Amino acid sequence: MIQDNYGRGVSYLRLSITDRCNLRCFYCRPGKGSQFIPHKNILTYEDMLYLLHAASGMDVQKVRLTGGEPFVRRDILYFLHRLKSELPEMEIRLTSNATLIAGKIRALRDIGIKGLNISLDTLDRDKYQRITGQDKLDNVMASIDRCLEEGIRVKINAVALKGINDDELGDFIRLAMQKPLDVRFIEFMPIGEKSLWKEDYYWSSSDLLLQAAEIAEMVPVGSLSRNHGPARMFRPGRGLGRVGVISPLSEHFCGTCNRLRITANGRLRTCLFSDKEYNLLPLIRSRKIGPDRLRLVMERAGRRKPMGHKLWSREKQENSLCRRVMSSIGG
Ligand code: 5AD
Ligand code: SF4
Repeated sequence: MIQDNYGRGVSYLRLSITDRCNLRCFYCRPGKGSQFIPHKNILTYEDMLYLLHAASGMDVQKVRLTGGEPFVRRDILYFLHRLKSELPEMEIRLTSNATLIAGKIRALRDIGIKGLNISLDTLDRDKYQRITGQDKLDNVMASIDRCLEEGIRVKINAVALKGINDDELGDFIRLAMQKPLDVRFIEFMPIGEKSLWKEDYYWSSSDLLLQAAEIAEMVPVGSLSRNHGPARMFRPGRGLGRVGVISPLSEHFCGTCNRLRITANGRLRTCLFSDKEYNLLPLIRSRKIGPDRLRLVMERAGRRKPMGHKLWSREKQENSLCRRVMSSIGG
């Protein structure tokens, strides 16, 4: 097992399968001339399978496929099929904006995808268009309903943006009362060189929860210790679903961080907020070297996973915590 110097075990990989996205969420990929990774450096599906085989030999039992938007990648269903048949024990999850999945939901269920994290910051059609650049809200809402019908768990990730979606807290809470899904508000993080982060947008989880309590009774769910991921969840009233917060800025959860990230060009990142990257691409591509060497590098990198980012202090000085934009890390 990969273990770091603080005793945290790594059991979870986030793999960005493309840095491209069909949307342009302003907080994620500002700057029109953003550079994409050259095609030849993008991990092929064979590369990814090789990497995941190696990782599964180190007790990594869970992979989250992210982007950009994973569903812009051609033949993704083929890849998911292969992954499921070659590594049946590996739990596969996906983070998507759900604008491109409409015809694929039954297939996702049949492959064995149990849950989808869906990025959705507003329930208002015009605002959706202003945030993402596209008029796709109806499409996303229909796909959310289809997922629920097929028994695919839905977690909505909404970036908490003061002045942009704080007026919709009640609508999101009502959505979670009416449908059996989770809504999780993530504090806006200053990620990427040209991040548009500013303090005016900052809507802290504690403010959000105080406001939520005025709208519905918010009953804490499960243990609030962080053993089950970084979200703190609540059940509003007698609702079917849940509402929660993820608070990377106001209360970092490094202590239970169990993940490594791999970018679409095979760079391993040990922390979302650190630009330190380990280039796995040559080790993945030269199969003759064998997976042991790849494992060794991942193990060594994992050992140096940092602890305790200094978000508040640093972003104030530099307005950005790392150079890579979010769409090339995958969140
Ligand atoms: N701060 C917080 N969340 C972000 N996301 C993208 N950029 C940011 C940011 N700067 C979210 C996306 C997606 C998830 C992977 O991260 O909306 O849900
Ligand atoms: Fe695309 Fe997600 Fe970034 Fe929006 S947040 S631009 S949907 S990768």
